[in-house]
Amino acid sequence: MITFNKVHFSYPKKEIFKDVNFKIDKGEFVFLIGESGTGKTTLLRMINMELVPRIGEVTVAEFNTNSIKKPEIPLLRRKIGFVFQDFKLLNDRNVFDNVALPLYLSGVKPAYIKKKVFNVLNEVGVFDSYRKMPEELSGGEQQRVSIARAIVNEPLVLIADEPTGNLDPFVSFEIIKLLLSINYKGTAVLVATHNYEIVKKLRSKRLMQIKDKKVFEVVLKD
Ligand SMILES: Nc1ncnc2c1ncn2[C@@H]1O[C@H](COP(=O)(O)OP(=O)(O)O)[C@@H](O)[C@H]1O
Ligand SMILES: [Mg+2]
Repeated sequence: MITFNKVHFSYPKKEIFKDVNFKIDKGEFVFLIGESGTGKTTLLRMINMELVPRIGEVTVAEFNTNSIKKPEIPLLRRKIGFVFQDFKLLNDRNVFDNVALPLYLSGVKPAYIKKKVFNVLNEVGVFDSYRKMPEELSGGEQQRVSIARAIVNEPLVLIADEPTGNLDPFVSFEIIKLLLSINYKGTAVLVATHNYEIVKKLRSKRLMQIKDKKVFEVVLKD
């Protein structure tokens, strides 16, 4: 579903990736680790096709960085749910409206929107807060809302860039458990993190590491 084929990527004055190759299949759960500045966010933005390889290609579902046309970009983005370290909720809208927004943008009928948003808020555990404004919520609750917004369009893959970076250890683990439960229902999940405590706890999950401008599969030993 996601393929990096001989991918090289550089910013104007900095080479980030040199011959990166991997695949992520439908329904997989993958952790992406790497020291700060190694290129985790860059790699995720290549999946979104905000950034394109200098050499090689990235394929996501039926889209490919070498052949995607500008009008197809929104179709690609609809297949990808994004969650960030700093939540990026709209502070002038309540929880319901934050989660409903991607559906409005997709032109979905209002009756369906209501049903779907309440379902998703229930799934992530913030149903009772649907009228609250983001600033009335704790960090963990805000991240739950941002996860709801990311899955409301039923994406093929949920991508989380340091989703626990602003949260304490207990809340962090609760958020990871939520991502796991979303994965159990069939959505592929890719989590970039430098939270090694969590990665160690979930050592049975697939682990990819960015190191020396490449991506390696890692197996943790007991
Ligand atoms: N737009 C950009 N222009 C130039 N350099 C960048 C840009 N974005 C990130 N970088 C640099 O590329 C490297 C990788 O960044 P990033 O992908 O954000 O790493 P990570 O998410 O692993 O911390 C860092 O050294 C960063 O400073
Ligand atoms: Mg980053």
